[in-house]
Amino acid sequence: MAVQESNPFGQRDPRVITLKEPVAPAPRPAGKPAEAPLLEVEDLNTWFPIKKGVFARTAGYVKAVNGVSFSMRPGETLGVVGESGCGKSTLSRTILRLEKPHSGKIRFLGRDVLSLRGRDLQQYRRDMQVVFQDPHATLNPRHSVLDILTEGMLVHGLIKSKEAEDVAARLLRDVGLQPDAMHRYPHAFSGGQRQRICIARALALTPKMIICDEAVSALDLSIRAQVLNLLMELKDKYHLAYLFITHDIGVVEHIADNIIVMYKGQIVERGPAEQVLLHPKEPYTQRLIAAVPRVGGTAINA
Ligand SMILES: Nc1ncnc2c1ncn2[C@@H]1O[C@H](COP(=O)(O)OP(=O)(O)OP(=O)(O)O)[C@@H](O)[C@H]1O
Ligand SMILES: [Mg+2]
Repeated sequence: MAVQESNPFGQRDPRVITLKEPVAPAPRPAGKPAEAPLLEVEDLNTWFPIKKGVFARTAGYVKAVNGVSFSMRPGETLGVVGESGCGKSTLSRTILRLEKPHSGKIRFLGRDVLSLRGRDLQQYRRDMQVVFQDPHATLNPRHSVLDILTEGMLVHGLIKSKEAEDVAARLLRDVGLQPDAMHRYPHAFSGGQRQRICIARALALTPKMIICDEAVSALDLSIRAQVLNLLMELKDKYHLAYLFITHDIGVVEHIADNIIVMYKGQIVERGPAEQVLLHPKEPYTQRLIAAVPRVGGTAINA
C-alpha cells in the first residue's frame, strides 16, 4: 500500500512529497513472548519551582511533566505530540537525565535510570542518543566533521585514532553524505546536511534509542521528507527506537508506530498511530490534526 493512500489527511495529490513506506513492526511468531520493554516511564513528574518575593520563596510549581507513564519496545517509534510548552522537551530532558524529576521512575532495559552511576551511566549515555532541532547550535563550529563524529567514540575508547577516518566515512555514507565531507566544518553545510551530521554523530555510539526533539521542525518541506526517510531507513537497518517529539502532529503520521498526545504536562490521548490520527477521541487531538497545513486537502508538512 502506498503511503499516500493511507494518508489520513486527504486524497492523493501530486504536489505532496511522498515518503517511503513506513517500516512496519515485524509480526511476532505465534507462541513467542512479547519483547521486553526498552524504556519504561512510570508516573513521572518534573516540576519547576516558581520563586516569588525578595526571599525567592517557592510559591508554586510549573508542572512541566505531570504524572506521565508509557513504555516502548526495542525498534519502536513513539511520537510525542502537543502544542508548544506542553512539556515534551522537559520529558526528553528528564529521560536523558538532564533534568531531575520530582518523582517517578524511568527504566531502560529493566534498569533504574535515575540511580545509574559510573560505567552504567556511561553505557546509558551511549545507548540513548538525542538529535535536537537546531543543528547549528549543537555542532561546534571550530570542530571538523571528522572530530564531531569520532570524538565520542575516542572518549569512550571504542576506536583508535588511526581508525577514525574509516569510521567517519562509514557514518557519513550511512546518512547519505560523501566521505570527503569529514574534512569540512559545520558552516560549510546546508541545514539539512547539518542535521544529517547530527544523526551520524548520534549513530556513532551504536545507540538502541534516539530521542528526536523537533529534529525536522526547522527544515523546509522537501528536506524534512528526506530526513524522515533517512531516519526510517536507519531504524530498519539498526533496529533503533525513536522517541519522536514534535509540536506538529502531521510530521509523525508516516513514521510513528504509536503516538502519545500531551497537554499541559499530561498525556491526554495515546494509541497506535493510525487510531490516533484517524479516530482521535479527544477534542484537543482533533484540534491538533485540524491545524495541520494542507495543500488541496492534503497534509503538506510531512
Ligand atoms: N528550566 C526551567 N525552569 C522553569 N520552567 C521551565 C524550565 N524548562 C521548561 N520550563 C517550563 O516548562 C513548560 C514545558 O516546557 P517544554 O520546553 O518542556 O515544552 P515543549 O513542549 O518542549 O515546548 P516547545 O514545543 O515549544 O519546544 C513550559 O511552561 C516552560 O516554560
Ligand atoms: Mg521543546
